Amino acid sequence: MKISVIGTGYVGIIQAVGLAEFGFEVVGIDIDESKVKALNSGECPLYEEGLEELLKKHVNKNLTFTTSYEPIKDSEVIFLCVGTPQDKDGNADLRFLFSAVEKIKETIDKEDYKVIVIKSTVPVGTNRKVKELLRGYNVDVVSNPEFLREGIAVYDFFNPERIILGFESLDKKKPIEIMKKVYNYFEGKNVPFVITNWETAELIKYASNAFLATKISFINEIAKLADKVGADIKNISYAMGLDPRIGNKFLNAGIGYGGSCFPKDVKALIKQFENNNIEPILIKATDRVNEEQIKWFFEKIKNYYGNLNGKTFAILGLAFKPNTDDLRESRAIKLIDMVLDSGAIVKGFDYVEKARENTTNMYKLNKSKAFYGYNLYVLDDLYETVKDVDGIIITVEYDFNKEDWEKIANLVKEKVVFDGRNVLDVKKIKKLGFKYYGVGR
Ligand code: UGA
Repeated sequence: MKISVIGTGYVGIIQAVGLAEFGFEVVGIDIDESKVKALNSGECPLYEEGLEELLKKHVNKNLTFTTSYEPIKDSEVIFLCVGTPQDKDGNADLRFLFSAVEKIKETIDKEDYKVIVIKSTVPVGTNRKVKELLRGYNVDVVSNPEFLREGIAVYDFFNPERIILGFESLDKKKPIEIMKKVYNYFEGKNVPFVITNWETAELIKYASNAFLATKISFINEIAKLADKVGADIKNISYAMGLDPRIGNKFLNAGIGYGGSCFPKDVKALIKQFENNNIEPILIKATDRVNEEQIKWFFEKIKNYYGNLNGKTFAILGLAFKPNTDDLRESRAIKLIDMVLDSGAIVKGFDYVEKARENTTNMYKLNKSKAFYGYNLYVLDDLYETVKDVDGIIITVEYDFNKEDWEKIANLVKEKVVFDGRNVLDVKKIKKLGFKYYGVGR
């Protein structure tokens, strides 16, 4: 079976490479010529564990990339994996999706049967709209939301917790059979298939992300009270999680959620409620708690020093979470901006080289990492980063305990840590003379 994947961002590349590994003949289509060129020479434009190896294994064999829509003519299945960013009002912007649909219409023959699968995260009603746009064409539209976590997306692709497939009607067997063929690799592997209608599939995706975001905002709100009354949020999360109805995942308090999904999806879900004249009471609160969390943490830092002007901080972690280079909605970047705005100097570090590179490019720092209009330096070495600083701020949940804290204690100007992800061994740190400020502990 020949499959086309339109859009080679995070979702599209992994989908294309994954389907190639299943043995299909796959063509990835993207409007970005330089990206297509890089992918065809086996270079992965983004950092994702195991992805480049798989790309190299299949590229120019059963996997190719192109800017042309021609290959969709002889593809039985076409995956739509284009971005659906947030527009200025908080809605999902479907421009890229609709323009891809237009190009499909211009390219395929009306009589040729195709299954068009929407993998992009789209608001309820979008699959129906796409089918409407393709009226008169012999196509079925399928909703197949993705549940990949950045950083371990390749693992997630091959080990999904569920496959969601939404159809126009469950009476029509052909598209269901074709989708089962596409995901045949998971048959007998205990992967539940949820076969449902378009609207349910679309909402499963938003409800799942909003629920996880709500869990995070919930524990972050409790952390503020724990902080005030001298309780320990880590123990609270642990004990709560022992109840299997609650579960211990996504109950880590911190400086809030970031990334390309949670912030945008929560906001887009709020809009979908409002567009249907329903007040999204809980989900709005989830969003608000998240916006406030970083400000609350920054206040904590400010309260300690009084005035941040002229102080130097080591910010450990730049991306929105560990093992990724993705800076989108990164809490670390938000905090860097707040610290810089208050007149302080920031030395930033992340274990992922590409995250450091992206930060450097974003702030347009020059190659020698020197001051270039900002009081910001991005450094390749953690010990260089903490040297002579007035405080260390942890922004990403890496296990920084593995570092030599005795050495760090000797390098810093002032021994104080603001642990925005509650990752440090407090006893050990305090023994070395550090003052410790976490989130709710
Ligand atoms: C998220 C979902 O976890 C995936 O299931 C989903 O497929 C994906 O969005 C998507 O919609 O494409 P991702 O954005 O890669 O995946 O990141 P997560 O691992 O979920 O982390 C999101 C944020 O929550 C991070 O900033 C992380 O620091 C924060 N977080 C996570 C917490 O603050 N506390 C926690 O306990 C867990």
